[in-house]
Amino acid sequence: MKSKHFPKSFKWGTAISSYQNEGEYNTHGKGPSIWDTFTNRKSFKKGNGNTATDFYNTYKEDLLKVKALNLDCFRFSISWSRIFPHGIGEINPEGVAFYHDLIQACIDLNIEPWVTLYHWDLPQALEDQGGWTNREILNWFKTYVEFCSKEYGATVKTWIILNEPMSFVGLGYFLGMHAPGKKGFKNFLPAAHHATLCQSMGGRIVRKNVKDAIIGTTFSCSHVSPLNRRVIHKKAAARIDALVNRFFIEPTLGLGYPMDAIPGLNRIEKYVLPGDEELMPFDFDFIGLQYYFKIVAKFSLLPPILFAQEVPAEKRDVKINAMNLEIYPKGLYKVLEKFNAYPGIKNIYITESGVCFEDELIEGKVNDKNRINYFKKTFKYTLKAIENNIPVKGYFIWTLVDNFEWAEGTKPRFGIIYTDFKTQKRTVKKSGLWLKRFLSKR
Ligand code: GAL
Repeated sequence: MKSKHFPKSFKWGTAISSYQNEGEYNTHGKGPSIWDTFTNRKSFKKGNGNTATDFYNTYKEDLLKVKALNLDCFRFSISWSRIFPHGIGEINPEGVAFYHDLIQACIDLNIEPWVTLYHWDLPQALEDQGGWTNREILNWFKTYVEFCSKEYGATVKTWIILNEPMSFVGLGYFLGMHAPGKKGFKNFLPAAHHATLCQSMGGRIVRKNVKDAIIGTTFSCSHVSPLNRRVIHKKAAARIDALVNRFFIEPTLGLGYPMDAIPGLNRIEKYVLPGDEELMPFDFDFIGLQYYFKIVAKFSLLPPILFAQEVPAEKRDVKINAMNLEIYPKGLYKVLEKFNAYPGIKNIYITESGVCFEDELIEGKVNDKNRINYFKKTFKYTLKAIENNIPVKGYFIWTLVDNFEWAEGTKPRFGIIYTDFKTQKRTVKKSGLWLKRFLSKR
């Protein structure tokens, strides 16, 4: 398989996010986000993103690397509290200028900037008022998206509204594992419904403000299979599938929440106000799929409503990444097939895929051949999807440089470039060098 086998118009990119990369967390006018609060608590033991990869100061050099690796597109997110330090109201001109400079730096290098409006770093000031659980978020998000789309719409054409709503709502407002650390259905359900509404509203706002905008949003997805062929486990797998794969895309397509699979989800109706159902769909130009691992599901009495659990990959004698998740490249093909089966899908971008290991720098080199293997295989499955008429239009590697991996800190390394977190020195890994060669022959 060679890159020239892909269509000429196929876009190759890499993705990063504001909290995981920027640093300068409390300077240059930026207000605190929920991730600043979450990681700077005494009880949090995995470090913090206060400096992260210092992207705020190194973006020019990092973009030169994007160029040198022969990538076409660069996906980054805007830190809401760098623009609005208090979530709404007063604007921080230095923050606004930073993203103008970053966008311009992309354009100067002929790299397409792809902007994600929300990649999990909610302003703390808004969380203090309930964050995603408070319906007011519709007004807060509206103000933020109106501002960004008007400000950057002349130079940025591709917009992503949300990054993986199921991840930030599920991990942040149901399991309490991510910021802001809230738990239970009473937080999850309103947060989920408000995220659905914000996702489509964001799309409508960008459509109104940005001429020729290409608008998408991203969904986390996994291939889910049952522990064995027993019906009880098959049904458990269907419920997990509804939660991880169906929950956010279906209302966007006008299909409502997947209550057929999880009847207990009907409790969400409490938060659905008259008129909401018409506001939930939006005609996105593309959907972004983000794929990392496979899930094996089994029946379980806990948690209630879901009555299903994951069987940990460590217990299944399979290949795992540094976050103990199963590495399963073929799953990318399966999720592409699955999402493409929905009516109304126009274009699909793989807006993130990658794999983490505890890579080591030895004598100036990082020999990450497992990562090369992952990309070779997932590229092959992407090509197979294209050959089978699935409209996959691009692949964004997660990620450019090893960064701050949320609740896991800096141990799992996802980059194709190694970061020395003490000196911020970057070293292109073997996978990066491989990618550069792969993309040079288009
Ligand atoms: C995604 C997320 C990224 C990154 C990646 C690797 O869910 O959007 O920010 O952390 O997972 O775990």
